[in-house]
Amino acid sequence: MSITKQAVIQAQLPAKLAPQDAAEAFAPSNIALCKYWGKRDAELNLPINNSLSVSLGHLGTRTRLESAPDGTDRVYLNGVEQAQDQPFAAKLLAFVELFRAGRALPVHVHTENNIPTAAGLASSASGFAALTLALDRWLQLGLAPEVLSAFARMGSGSACRSLFEGFVEWRDGIHDDGMDSHGVPIPARWPGLQIGLVKVATGEKAVGSRAGMQRTIETAHLYQSWPLQAAADLEKLHQAIASRDFALLGQTAEQNALSMHATMIASWPPLLYWQPESVAAMQRVWQLREAGLAVYFTMDAGPNLKLLFEVQDRPAVEAAFPGLEVVAPFGD
Ligand code: ADP
Ligand code: DP6
Ligand code: CO
Repeated sequence: MSITKQAVIQAQLPAKLAPQDAAEAFAPSNIALCKYWGKRDAELNLPINNSLSVSLGHLGTRTRLESAPDGTDRVYLNGVEQAQDQPFAAKLLAFVELFRAGRALPVHVHTENNIPTAAGLASSASGFAALTLALDRWLQLGLAPEVLSAFARMGSGSACRSLFEGFVEWRDGIHDDGMDSHGVPIPARWPGLQIGLVKVATGEKAVGSRAGMQRTIETAHLYQSWPLQAAADLEKLHQAIASRDFALLGQTAEQNALSMHATMIASWPPLLYWQPESVAAMQRVWQLREAGLAVYFTMDAGPNLKLLFEVQDRPAVEAAFPGLEVVAPFGD
């Protein structure tokens, strides 16, 4: 039995908490180029493999916390109050409780996602990163970004990478309390790098990332090869970033995503997050590449594609994918 989340968090907090009237924070969503898929510790969300992502700039979550004058907890998502017996508010308040640890500090939570929620566009990443940052401000904790990143990881693994802008590596770590398993910003920029969101379906997925990776580990023999794939891809991505080798970046990210999806498909019951439109979009990417355009894709646990390309190819990519939402994480 591992050490509990609450014990890990309380070990870093002062004995007396001093909440402000209100505090708020924004955190970007992030897209992994080498995916996190599989936990070695489900209580602390410690990963089996290292992962590497790029943060999505203005796309993400803004969360505001208010000391509740009416003495009761309330949770609002995009302006709509969420019932406390439903998973969204229950999960969010359980995370807040790791900090309060029984102290009477009722709170109103207003959280706004400018990306679809639970659709494979990493809302859990920006959601728990913004909540962790807002808790740090509300309770005036003044904790270091690495500590906040490790805390956010306990809300959702991918959230530890959303504490930072740009390229971020999440290291697996070796400590029992997981405090060395957090995001580490990679000090390299890539002006002109573009990410295009192909929104095939933005409804809530039937199987969340958490249950999906658990099922894969438990039932897919193919999963055994995943840590090797991830380790090799991580090396290639570091090399691609250091030498600004876009073909290497794109190829590695696309193969990594498809390898992860292969392990999902090999699970039982099978996990296929793709829709026919997802496959059509992949084929369109491959056709564009055959025609000489440097465009690649990655996909998370959902039907949507994220295209990777560089700014000079933006008009051609937009022509092939009308209505594409484009983010430039390092500016144009
Ligand atoms: P996604 O691909 O969007 O990350 P997941 O299945 O990983 O999908 O996670 C979705 C879950 O993330 C939601 O059910 C909810 O528990 C949590 N989440 C999403 N947005 C927020 C938010 N703004 N604040 C807190 N938690 C959030
Ligand atoms: C496919 O971080 O959403 O997007 O830790 O259980 O909350 P939990 O899962 P989550 O998993 C993300 C999986 C992924 C790959 C990635 O973002 O690295
Ligand atoms: Co998620």
